[in-house]
Amino acid sequence: KAVWLKDYTPPAFVVDAAKINFILGEEVVEVHTELQVRRNPAVSLGSGGFFLDGKDLALRCLKMDGRRVAPHGFTVDQHGLRIHGVPDRFTLETVVAIRPQDNTALEGLYRSGAMFCTQCEPEGFRRITFFPDRPDVLTRFTTTITADLDRYPVLLSNGNPVSTETLPQGRHRVVWQDPFPKPSYLFAMVAGDLAVEEDFYVTRSGRQVQLRIYLEKHNRGRGKHALGALKKAMRWDEEVYGLEYDLDLYMIVAADDFNMGAMENKGLNIFNSKYVLADSDMATDADFQAIEEVVAHEYFHNWTGNRVTCRDWFQLSLKEGLTVFRDQEFSADLVAMSLKRIHDVRLLRTVQFAEDSGPLAHPVRPESYQEINNFYTATVYEKGAEIVRMLRNLIGARGFRRGLDLYFERYDGQAVTIEDFLRSMEDAANIDLSQFRLWYSQSGTPKVVVSDSYDANRREYSLTLRQQCQPTPGQPEKRPLHIPVALALFDNTGGQIPLCLPGAPDPDLGPSTVVSLCQKEQTFRFGNVPCRPVPSLLRGFSAPVRLDYDYSDADLRFLMVHDSDAFNRWDAAQKLACRIILRCVDQLRTGADFALDPILSQAFTEVLDGDLGDKGLAAQMLMLPSENFLAEQQDCIDIDAICQARQKVRQALGGQLREALLARWQFCQGEDAVAFNFSPEDAGRRALKNTCLGYLAAQPCSDFWSWLADLYGQTSNMTDRLAILAIFAERESPESQAVLASFYDQSRHNSLVLDKWFAAQAAARNPSIIEKMRLLLSHRDFTLRNPNRVRSVLHSFARGNPGGFHAANGEGYHLVGEQVIQLDRINPQVAASLAGAFSAWQRYDRRRRLLMKAQLENIAAQQCLSSDLEEIVHRCLHQD
Ligand code: ARG
Ligand code: ZN
Repeated sequence: KAVWLKDYTPPAFVVDAAKINFILGEEVVEVHTELQVRRNPAVSLGSGGFFLDGKDLALRCLKMDGRRVAPHGFTVDQHGLRIHGVPDRFTLETVVAIRPQDNTALEGLYRSGAMFCTQCEPEGFRRITFFPDRPDVLTRFTTTITADLDRYPVLLSNGNPVSTETLPQGRHRVVWQDPFPKPSYLFAMVAGDLAVEEDFYVTRSGRQVQLRIYLEKHNRGRGKHALGALKKAMRWDEEVYGLEYDLDLYMIVAADDFNMGAMENKGLNIFNSKYVLADSDMATDADFQAIEEVVAHEYFHNWTGNRVTCRDWFQLSLKEGLTVFRDQEFSADLVAMSLKRIHDVRLLRTVQFAEDSGPLAHPVRPESYQEINNFYTATVYEKGAEIVRMLRNLIGARGFRRGLDLYFERYDGQAVTIEDFLRSMEDAANIDLSQFRLWYSQSGTPKVVVSDSYDANRREYSLTLRQQCQPTPGQPEKRPLHIPVALALFDNTGGQIPLCLPGAPDPDLGPSTVVSLCQKEQTFRFGNVPCRPVPSLLRGFSAPVRLDYDYSDADLRFLMVHDSDAFNRWDAAQKLACRIILRCVDQLRTGADFALDPILSQAFTEVLDGDLGDKGLAAQMLMLPSENFLAEQQDCIDIDAICQARQKVRQALGGQLREALLARWQFCQGEDAVAFNFSPEDAGRRALKNTCLGYLAAQPCSDFWSWLADLYGQTSNMTDRLAILAIFAERESPESQAVLASFYDQSRHNSLVLDKWFAAQAAARNPSIIEKMRLLLSHRDFTLRNPNRVRSVLHSFARGNPGGFHAANGEGYHLVGEQVIQLDRINPQVAASLAGAFSAWQRYDRRRRLLMKAQLENIAAQQCLSSDLEEIVHRCLHQD
């Protein structure tokens, strides 16, 4: 059942134009389709006839050039429709019936609340009508929607509205036309009784673009922030890449039921409401930030994805890696650069590194898949973005811009490959990327082991870098990659040593440099180094690798203070905390007494007392690495010890630093303005304040809890409220119950806020978490039908609560395994992503290994598994 990249063949037929006519009914939707089809001149005569994908469609009529096709002239099966014997050019008409209200997979045409909406990427269009549903077939679409006027006053599709008509019996009809040829995965249709929020944007060349956000009426008034983000993104893409929007109308629709984050359909984005709706009463700083990122991401797709699209789904990272890179750079320009980088790298290191080291590891450009939905991964998105970033750094911002210009010049309006992108870069920047390409085809996270030596007589310092990469599924042998390592050297007073090659008279390399590690092992030498330096390596996380250098604790504390690269200051803090916690893990194993090494509290005190120009950075430095990140550092994961050790360190810090934490908390609290404002400074202050609060709660003084309950009552925004809710969710007490109940009462009518209530409890390090989970799952507001709700309860638990999920008796596994099976009957895509929580089973102790494996086997043994879930479970169990 696998599809292979090496088997790619161009389409035998192209579709120049498609007219899709929706007749919306409450029970059945009829889709009338008229296609202008032509044999692809680039393909030599095939004899297989014309194949159109189609899934769960009831075919009611089939005509070619106006005449019904005789029964022996076509075949229909569960994959689609094949018309035998066709001329070189013809018109094909089909009528199919579908039932969107039964579509719980949320692919194709489905209902979200009272509206109809679509999700076609990657292969949802085949659930709407028969069509060659592959990204290399580019078609001009005209969409007609006929519906009840009262229930569905708003009827939307891609492009421009061309006519509106009132019909008898309370119905109406709207026609939309998209002038840009596009693949079917970018098609969209929406019908509902929606509120609209409007703005406009004038492009650099002076065209006025209408911006509209459509919301279900219960969400009215919450689109302002997203509209602001959209305008910023439009401006940014003009300034940085010279890219302008190309239609007169840009629409975003917020859907409460949505499998992923959002979708870049041409001119008509459809978003998960979570990434549209915001006001201070319901959204946290993290939500405001995420909305900006996702709005920008989908907007940037208009060029990187829509104008130039993918030839096939193996090229997914062509649009996703590049667009993630673009949205990351956009956000970095908006907020503090280093904070954004920390946020992105944290995600990469916890989620993508874990993926890359387990049975689901795959290259950024995969070679085969069973279900493409399973490849919307951290590897394709986030590692893909890292590769583009390395490329940009390698050839410089200007070379990269020239490369992108050339890419659009060559491929506008086409469906292309990662190879085409790389060749544009090579040609524009005059560089050979033959080794660099390996990043796309080789999976696994390389490890770079660094050793150094200093020769005081010759004042020479040398760094030896060695790369290695573990085998991954299907790839036993690894070749050396081109790894750019940014570095600087510091003397013992904290001064940055000017870099030069040995024997060179002048510091010709500047204060920092990037070395290219291209072989298995290479040594880099620097001259005129006055003393044994402390190296700052992989600055700004210059490559997606694990770095191994034997820093002393004192070196790390030194870098936390002195490194001029803010990212590496943070990273030094992470490394130090990580190491102290892992030492505590060893103490727990050997039964030794735990005592917190004073160096961590000293280093943290320095952060707390230091100049707080950047409170957001201070907050990040004080956050302990997550259990999942710590687990990533162990070959055989001792999750009990990790959870305990992390908690012990937390408590010890909370006790030892109480005065400083309280002082900092008070200071930040005092600076809080009355009115909530989402800005980097304000968000940074709130983050620092709430980080302090978390430590204080780990080792509370006598009347802490009643004080905190009072504080909860005075909060004026969702960030602070949720921070306190999360603290209370960790313990059983009357105050906890009261706070949880009050949050629930305030949130029950806003499902996004209710998600937070669920998520805070599911992720809580609470001793009775399993019972809590059972209660949450049987709560009347819990449902497997809404992906956000599922994620807030099940993913928060399985991915974000290692202590609970990995409970020694296997109850966490059991609970998730059960839900995966039930969910698969409703929404295979979301079920498959949840099942991924079991993927690291082989890295745990024997008992857990067997328990997790048993869950995977039990899932595998179910009747009628979806292809999505089957593939994940199979890869987890069989490695290949
Ligand atoms: N192209 C979308 C984005 O990254 C993601 C849509 C993926 N949808 C899916 N069902 N796999 O913005
Ligand atoms: Zn995307």
